[in-house]
Amino acid sequence: MSLAFDRRGGGIPLVLLHGFPFNRTMWSDQVGPLSRVSDLILPDLPGHGESPLGDLPLSMDGMADAVVALLDDLGIGEPAVVGGLSMGGYVAQAIASRHPDRVLALILADTKSAPDTPEAAAQREVLARKVEEAGDPAPARDGMLPKLLAPASAKERPDLVERVSAMISGTAPASIAATLRALAIRPDRGPELSSWDWPALVVVGDQDAIAIPEEMRGIADRLPRATFSVIPEAGHLPPMEQPAAFNSAVQEFLRRIKG
Ligand code: MLT
Repeated sequence: MSLAFDRRGGGIPLVLLHGFPFNRTMWSDQVGPLSRVSDLILPDLPGHGESPLGDLPLSMDGMADAVVALLDDLGIGEPAVVGGLSMGGYVAQAIASRHPDRVLALILADTKSAPDTPEAAAQREVLARKVEEAGDPAPARDGMLPKLLAPASAKERPDLVERVSAMISGTAPASIAATLRALAIRPDRGPELSSWDWPALVVVGDQDAIAIPEEMRGIADRLPRATFSVIPEAGHLPPMEQPAAFNSAVQEFLRRIKG
């Protein structure tokens, strides 16, 4: 399956993977600043944005393989900086686990290494059925929106609320349901973290209610070469809520890798 993507810039390859149920437009505030310092590749993950859902069942591993196939198609055989936010971070970790030779460094934003608890997995199934029965992304949008942004972003940035809402509304109900089921069975990456000896940037919004800063600090502590960065006044989506601070953290990290 081929993935839709944007590519801009030149130099060190940097792949950024969006969260659920978003698409590559969530990175629009990164395109200018980060393409000046990298060969920036922004895929739409399967079933999101302009990428087809592909074969079911969907999985984080399958998404990781699709991203690596895209890199192959683009002729990028050398290791890349692989980054992702939330679900994109699960896929980045799946790439690290399955295709370690394709990784130069990791960026894990607002994500987790632990799998779903049985309760969380059950809640995803309930939501998947609601979305399927409604034939509409609305139950996912209405359930997720209140948790995604920091309270101040949600109150003072109607443009941002609208962008996030539009991304969710633009995702097909079948894709949302399939992805919820894929998220519910994602593997535990915790035991692997200590063997991932790449430079890593672990970054999180200080008000992230989904991937909480304490949990992300735990990921940074277990990675041998991680830098931990907390973005002030951001919830689950720092690249959209505080793009300048997020971009600076990534630029600084890239500078150090290039050394
Ligand atoms: C995301 O933003 O990708 C989701 O919050 C991931 C999840 O539900 O685990």
